[in-house]
Amino acid sequence: MKDHLVALVTGGASGIGLATVERFTSEGYKVAVFDANESAKEVIKNSLKSEDNDVFIYEVDVTNHDSILDGFKGLAKDNLTPSVLLNSAGISPPLNPLHKYEIDDWNKCVSINLNGTFMVTREFINSYIENKLSKGSIINISSIMGSRASAAQAVYSATKHGVVGLAKSVAQDYAHLNLRANAIGPGVIETPMTNDVLVDENVKNHLLTRIPLKRVAQASEVASLVYFLATDESSYITGTYIPIDGGYLSS
Ligand code: NAI
Repeated sequence: MKDHLVALVTGGASGIGLATVERFTSEGYKVAVFDANESAKEVIKNSLKSEDNDVFIYEVDVTNHDSILDGFKGLAKDNLTPSVLLNSAGISPPLNPLHKYEIDDWNKCVSINLNGTFMVTREFINSYIENKLSKGSIINISSIMGSRASAAQAVYSATKHGVVGLAKSVAQDYAHLNLRANAIGPGVIETPMTNDVLVDENVKNHLLTRIPLKRVAQASEVASLVYFLATDESSYITGTYIPIDGGYLSS
């Protein structure tokens, strides 16, 4: 029975997070969303096909621990105990070589992509333990930059390597509680984050030369991998990093 399952999705108001919210609801899950976007409720309700989906939206800034705690209080009030966590909230910061990197830009990216993932995961695990759940799955959205680096993207790459390490560590620490943790590495996915880049045909064509499948992906394709990792279909997979990149990392 799936109807008692609850998935918590950070950054669920846009792109990959939103596609995953759609996938989980279509599979009969209740979905809780933590997103800093004030319009998250409106955006999500408008994009879901069915009117009566079980989606619960909380305005949470993942860089703020109190805000995360309030989010978890909201979950408890709504009788929601998530057994699945997708850490999707993230930003892609301005490109710059390291010696010119603005300290504020660095801190902001680390704060959302890495510290936010840590703090939400921390409280998710506390809830998992308090509620004595017997099975769970955490999925961190890393990137192909969680396995390699590219010019002028030091902070993005550092944070995306970081969430891979975080997933591996969580897998080690909580395997005895049957709580699995993995990271996935999307390549180029069509979302609001990449709109500005992909609108430039030259840049897009350059990217395509590096992608064996010769296309970018839709967020729903990433949601399929997230869903697989959330369910028993992946019951023996933990502590790993799985690219989803059209073959980008194979060369
Ligand atoms: P997006 O920009 O469409 O969505 C990001 C969501 O995160 C937004 O709803 C935003 O409001 C939320 N968010 C940002 N800061 C937040 C905060 N402090 N607290 C709570 N929510 C916050 O981005 P997209 O493309 O869906 O990216 C999702 C994840 O996938 C990110 O971690 C990104 O780095 C990663 N990724 C994306 C790729 C792509 O090609 N789009 C490729 C590889 C990784």
